[in-house]
Amino acid sequence: MFKRALNGIQFMNISIVGTGYVGTVTGACLAELGNKVFLVDVIKEKVDKINKGIPPIYEEGLEELLKRNRERITATLDLKEAVTNSDVTFITVGTPSNPDGSIDLKCIKESAEKIGAALKEKERHVVVVKSTVVPGTTENVVVPALEKASGKKAGKGFGAVMNPEFLREGKAIKDFMKPDRIVIGGLDEKSLDSVVKLYKGFSVPILRTNLRTAEMIKYAANAFLAAKISLINEIGNICKKLGIDTYEVAEGIGHDKRIGRAFLDSGAGFGGSCFPKDVKALIAKAKELGYEPKIMEEVLEVNKKQPLKMVELVKKRLPKLEGKTIAVLGLAFKAGTDDVRESPAIPVIKSVLKEGVKVKVYDPEAMKNMKKIFQDIEYCKNLGECLKGSDACLILTDWEEFKNLGDSDFSGMRNKIIIEGRKVLDKKKNGDFEGITW
Ligand code: UDX
Repeated sequence: MFKRALNGIQFMNISIVGTGYVGTVTGACLAELGNKVFLVDVIKEKVDKINKGIPPIYEEGLEELLKRNRERITATLDLKEAVTNSDVTFITVGTPSNPDGSIDLKCIKESAEKIGAALKEKERHVVVVKSTVVPGTTENVVVPALEKASGKKAGKGFGAVMNPEFLREGKAIKDFMKPDRIVIGGLDEKSLDSVVKLYKGFSVPILRTNLRTAEMIKYAANAFLAAKISLINEIGNICKKLGIDTYEVAEGIGHDKRIGRAFLDSGAGFGGSCFPKDVKALIAKAKELGYEPKIMEEVLEVNKKQPLKMVELVKKRLPKLEGKTIAVLGLAFKAGTDDVRESPAIPVIKSVLKEGVKVKVYDPEAMKNMKKIFQDIEYCKNLGECLKGSDACLILTDWEEFKNLGDSDFSGMRNKIIIEGRKVLDKKKNGDFEGITW
């Protein structure tokens, strides 16, 4: 296979199966670094978009990266051709939750079988699992599927690696290009070496380990981050009862290097496609192993109740909600993305709709996605329209444009009740508003 090299960094031909935000960002970044990349999906619309330099998902900076590297990126429906024409294949397909919270490995298994079939006629090839999979998956599910479909022995006919991602939506390109560390778990040294080469240009620690340890590092990272948020939210709920601003507490503890200020923003709780799913999957795996993960279960319990504290606060000011109008500013699970998966806005809207409230919403990016969930609420084209005539306003996403709101912006409201689920408003510019934990 032709390999390009530049000051010792060996460029490779790479195929990536699954063009969600991990696969597309990984492909665009590896192309930016000089590699030739095949992006494989089963949805023609996504493949066509990528080949036009249009990202299949909203991610800051991705369109520019795809357009700048068009001659190195080929999107295709043909997995076999992509694997045949590459040295390394990444699996970046989704691993959603089953109804009981355990991980759904259907797409992982299907991808491994298809890749295995394509390896039949191939010499040395390395398969890299980048999808978030519970510890033991690569060796017990992916490798056997590859061996069965290819007729080859792992370690001889192909190498197997697990290389978890730590990408945040909205900052995924930065997190790929400037990671805190790179974790590579390998079936054997040869597999490890071939993937370490890909990251040669990175000046961060590259941790070499085995497959299941790499898988666990990913889950442990997300479990710790989710726990940190639920704990500051628990502290925040106590602070609220004491009239303490939790953000001052976060400042006070964050200077302790053992704690760190990051991820101490209390509010309406965590959402997104990762924390809830990954913590649930690790809980299910632990139980399967006969261990009762009480702390992680409470992390989810606290998080589940957190958004509804917004409704409790509204009810304190508006005891009779029926017939009232509530404006919800922000639908995305966080700023910088159009993603509404597990967004705290969902339980809040559900709860007030049950009370016979008219709901008006505005979000700069996420309304298209929220329309798939709620059709019986009013989607407003701007902030002013959303706030006009409302009896209360709930802020649920920390969008930049909400940060400059002043008294005049809220003047169109019928009642000026403003409750923050994310800390965005400037106290100096606004009079009476209150926060969920401040
Ligand atoms: C997360 C992890 O950060 C990332 O490393 C992993 O690869 C994927 O999951 P992501 O879910 O995209 O990334 O977003 P993140 O920025 O971590 O925020 C997750 C949720 O936590 C959001 O709803 C956010 O509003 C919330 N959050 C975050 C808080 O409530 N408080 C905080 O201090 C930080």
